[in-house]
This record gives sequence, structure tokens and C-alpha cells, in this order.
Amino acid sequence: MHFEEYLRYVYPEKLSRVQEAELYSLLAGGKRVRPNIHFAVLEGYGISKEEGYPIAAAIEMIHTYSLIHDDLPSMDNDDFRRGKLTCHKMFDEATAILAGDGLLTRAFETITKANCKHMGLLVSTLAKASGDEGMILGQELDITLEHAKDVTIEQLKQIHNNKTGQLLAVPMTTAAILANRLEDVPVLFEVGTLLGLAFQIQDDIFDVTKSNEEMGKSCSDFENGKTTYVSVLGLKKAQELLETTFNMVLDRVHSLPMNVQPLLEMIDIIIKREK
Ligand code: IPE
Ligand code: IPE
Ligand code: MG
Ligand code: MG
Ligand code: MG
Repeated sequence: MHFEEYLRYVYPEKLSRVQEAELYSLLAGGKRVRPNIHFAVLEGYGISKEEGYPIAAAIEMIHTYSLIHDDLPSMDNDDFRRGKLTCHKMFDEATAILAGDGLLTRAFETITKANCKHMGLLVSTLAKASGDEGMILGQELDITLEHAKDVTIEQLKQIHNNKTGQLLAVPMTTAAILANRLEDVPVLFEVGTLLGLAFQIQDDIFDVTKSNEEMGKSCSDFENGKTTYVSVLGLKKAQELLETTFNMVLDRVHSLPMNVQPLLEMIDIIIKREK
């Protein structure tokens, strides 16, 4: 079964309106960066991607929920996502809120289908990355520091490491947990967080250099007065920092205790991404 089919397969045949909204956003054609990072690390450990479907699906569900809520009028107030109308524009605000809640909850049901020796650790790792000390904290800081003056580079890094870094690191750390390589979790967390930082700097740059059509989403962060790498450093310095950060990622990936080729290929796709 293809991963895209698996995402549909974990839902019932007949859908409620909220479930329809969940699948509208989930199957809208995201790049699947996080699932593919998970599969790449699994391959590095000699494990098939199918073994990782429940974990990858759970992460993609949480990521999708974070986007649905991020687009709401009270957050970034955006109309387009993944080449389509945002969930609250296609359905309505209440349905979009519930669809986010539904995806978040189904993620935790889905991850328990993984054949993992360390289920408690697996579930708590995903919860921590997603929760109010992870992605949600990042979103909280993103809102708090909107329009703020004199934001330091440290604060900026804290926003990015949490709102994006955590959900980019968790595909790597959960792959180590599934592979029964718990000793590798800390170093993978470090590499994943750094990759997430680079990913969000790239997103901040695209926000001002690409059109909504090219990105398939509303690029509103700069206009909304968000604290981004571009708003703080300017475009040129942000681009320089992006390159330095990717080089740091590559440097560290080379020393990981696994076959790093699949992960290197995935990172190359991210470096070269156009949206
Ligand atoms: C968008 O993530 C939000 C950020 C963390 C920058 P992606 O760029 O991975 O979005 P999709 O999943 O492809 O839609
Ligand atoms: C979103 O950051 C991060 C999360 C959804 C957790 P952005 O607000 O920059 O993402 P886009 O630009 O809307 O995709
Ligand atoms: Mg946002
Ligand atoms: Mg946004
Ligand atoms: Mg953005």
C-alpha cells in the first residue's frame, strides 16, 4: 500500500463532516517532508518504510492539524493552503477547529499501531514534540512576539526550534526508537532540530520571495508583522544564515551511526525545494 493510501485507510469508509474536513486538509497534497525523513532514517537502519507508516501518518496528522489551526482567523488568517482553500474557508471555522482536534487525537490512536518495543517512549516522544513544550510553545511564542521590537536572535531561534524544529526532529527520533536504537535519540534530536531551523528560515525567505501561487499557500508572515528571520536579519543575512545552517546539518549527518545516504538524499531535496 502506498503511504497516501494508508492515510485514507486509517479512516472509516463513511465520513462525518469533521472527518471530511480532516481528510480534505490531510490529503490536499503536502510535500510529506516529515514522513519522508522518517522513512529515510528507517532505511538507514535497514528497516522498511512500511514499518514506519503508523508513526509517519501520526506525525503528518499532527503537522496538518497545526497548519489548519495556524491558518485560522485568530492566528495567521490565511485563505490558501496546499494549493486549495484553507480548511476554515472550505468548511467553516468551527469545523476547522474540530478537524484539527480530530487529527491530533487520531494521530495518537494511529501511532499505537506501530510494532514498537518501546510504545510508552514512542507516544511520549510524539506528545512532547507536539505539545506545549514543543510545537504549541513555538506557536505561542510566535504570537507573543508578533510586532515585537528588538527580538534577539536567541528568541527567534527559540520560536523556530519549537514551532518547526520539534516536528522535523520527531520523525528522526521516533525512527531510532522503532529501530531499538535508543542511544541514538539525543544526536538525532539535535540534527533534526537544526534541520527544522533551516527549514523555517527557508520558509521565512519564501514568504517574501515567492508568490502565493508558487507556494500553494498564503505568504502572509511578513505582512502580518511576524517575527521572522527576514524581518530581523533582512533577506541577505537570512540567506547566508540558511546556507551556514544547512552546512552544519550536513556536517553532523555524516557522523551519524547509520547508513546516512537515504537521509542525505532527503536533505538534498529539502535544500533544493522550490516550495
Ligand atoms: C509548512 O510546512 C509549515 C512550516 C513549518 C514551515 P511544509 O512546508 O512542510 O508544508 P506542507 O506539509 O508541504 O504543506
Ligand atoms: C507555521 O509557521 C508553523 C506551524 C504550523 C507549527 P508559519 O505560519 O510560518 O507556516 P506557514 O508559512 O503558514 O506555512
Ligand atoms: Mg504561523
Ligand atoms: Mg502561517
Ligand atoms: Mg511561513
